[in-house]
Amino acid sequence: MKKHTIFLILILFSLFLNSCKYDFILPEVVPPPDNNGEPISFATQVAPIFSTGNKCTACHKPGDKSPDLTAANAYAQIVPNYVNTASPASSKIYTVPKSGTHYATISGSQAAIILAWITEGAKNN
Ligand code: HEC
Repeated sequence: MKKHTIFLILILFSLFLNSCKYDFILPEVVPPPDNNGEPISFATQVAPIFSTGNKCTACHKPGDKSPDLTAANAYAQIVPNYVNTASPASSKIYTVPKSGTHYATISGSQAAIILAWITEGAKNN
């Protein structure tokens, strides 16, 4: 009987310890890029995301899929049609590659660069 009681107390105590376990489920937060206080440059920071390694330009090139994302044409092709400066996070040039279901995907930091560039007014800089 005594053994039983001690056993029971041990079980209850271990349950109590387990109840204190806390799993934090943090939402995926993409921090804004640290750009030394400078605006994001379309030519040197955004356009290369599409063309480096032919990531997007394998398909999005002249005569192929629209929008044409090659460096020379990307700006005129995506502004204003694929950019929404009033609601940057709903811009297609941001949502489509970020979806994870498109033919090619971008990293979280690349998504943050694109979003910051749109938020800053989607300038041809
Ligand atoms: C393997 C070919 C392929 C690659 C690589 C590719 N795309 Fe696409 N993309 C397509 C096709 C095909 C469409 C036409 C619509 C569809 O099927 O989703 C499209 C459509 C789009 C659209 C327009 C969607 C709309 O609703 O009008 C955007 C924006 C886009 N792609 C961005 C990108 C970006 C950014 C990348 C690189 C990260 C990329 N795509 C890589 C094939 C590709």
